Amino acid sequence: MIKILGTGSYVPEKILTNFDLEKTLDTSDTWIVQRTGIHERRIAAPEESTVSLSVAAAKKALAAAEVSPKDVDLLILTTSTADYQISSSAPIIANELGCGKIPAFDLNAVCAGFVYGFCVAAGLLESGMYKNCLLIGSDVYSRILNWEDRNSCILFGDGAGAILLKKENGAPNILAHDYSSDGSGSAYIRIPVGGSKIPYNSNENIAKEDLYFKMEGKKVYEFTIKEIPACVKRLIEKANIASSDLDAVIFHQANIRIIDAVAKDCEIPIEKFFINIQKYGNTSSASVPLALDEAVRKGKIKTGDKVMLLGFGGGLSWGGVILEWQ
Ligand code: UT7
Repeated sequence: MIKILGTGSYVPEKILTNFDLEKTLDTSDTWIVQRTGIHERRIAAPEESTVSLSVAAAKKALAAAEVSPKDVDLLILTTSTADYQISSSAPIIANELGCGKIPAFDLNAVCAGFVYGFCVAAGLLESGMYKNCLLIGSDVYSRILNWEDRNSCILFGDGAGAILLKKENGAPNILAHDYSSDGSGSAYIRIPVGGSKIPYNSNENIAKEDLYFKMEGKKVYEFTIKEIPACVKRLIEKANIASSDLDAVIFHQANIRIIDAVAKDCEIPIEKFFINIQKYGNTSSASVPLALDEAVRKGKIKTGDKVMLLGFGGGLSWGGVILEWQ
């Protein structure tokens, strides 16, 4: 069985409210709250970055797990805002934590990153290759957003969450997993410039907004409303449980309307969903572990509970697991 020995999270101190955004953008608190459920988000201080947020969250997860950094033998960072294009950020985090020369790598599945990372970590632990995996979801979208684009910049915030996973003896407790991707929708979420397709030094005429995060929100919304309830239903069926058997749903905090629609469509009482979007907005890879840590610390999850983790976003990529909490 895969045990989550400890969880931790970190958010920057600075709060950016919808009312703050009203001062610089053609938007309103009313519009943002009604369309998304977001009231405020956190913004990293100039000296902070994805690595520093990750280290802060990881330290809390290790403390909760009562595991020394020296006993971590695998570290996975899920992020789409690594500190540098090259090299990856996970080794920097492992070094700063004092984990020694362990395998450490970045995994980028955008907002689905953490749930994809969970699948990779659980698989590697189940195989017996590693014993203690530190899995971190961390993103600093404030650095890649176009703060003049009201369609996207109002949605995101910065944060990090981490969990320490360990394989222990006992019956398998990952009751179901279900992952998918659809690259035909890749252009709906993208930073067009800066990759190998259109490098910064391209001779092409580069529009300033193409240097930043761009999202066709309506298209992504339509995709989620179609694919995510289907994924949730498949998970419930594979786990051989009824939707009423779920004790907690830790869902990607992208839009409260998406959560409401999925709850209704899948006949899961809304009270089962842990919701903190109002405080943090969409923190991409950090979204699920940030909610999970808050739910655990508030005593919302106990041994034996059936917990769903579910993420979706750029790629397009989506998926999740149902696990029995041990
Ligand atoms: O984490 C990755 C996964 N991401 C998601 O799941 C996001 C999915 N998409 C969404 O959550 C929603 O599509 C949004 C919240 C991004 C947008 O909500 P919407 O209800 O789809 O709004 P819309 O884009 O259709 O825009 C409706 C109107 C438009 O005005 P007109 O054309 O009707 O006159 C927009 O220009 O609202 C306008 N609008 C805004 N108004 C005030 C768009 N952004 C804003 C804004 N403030 N910030």
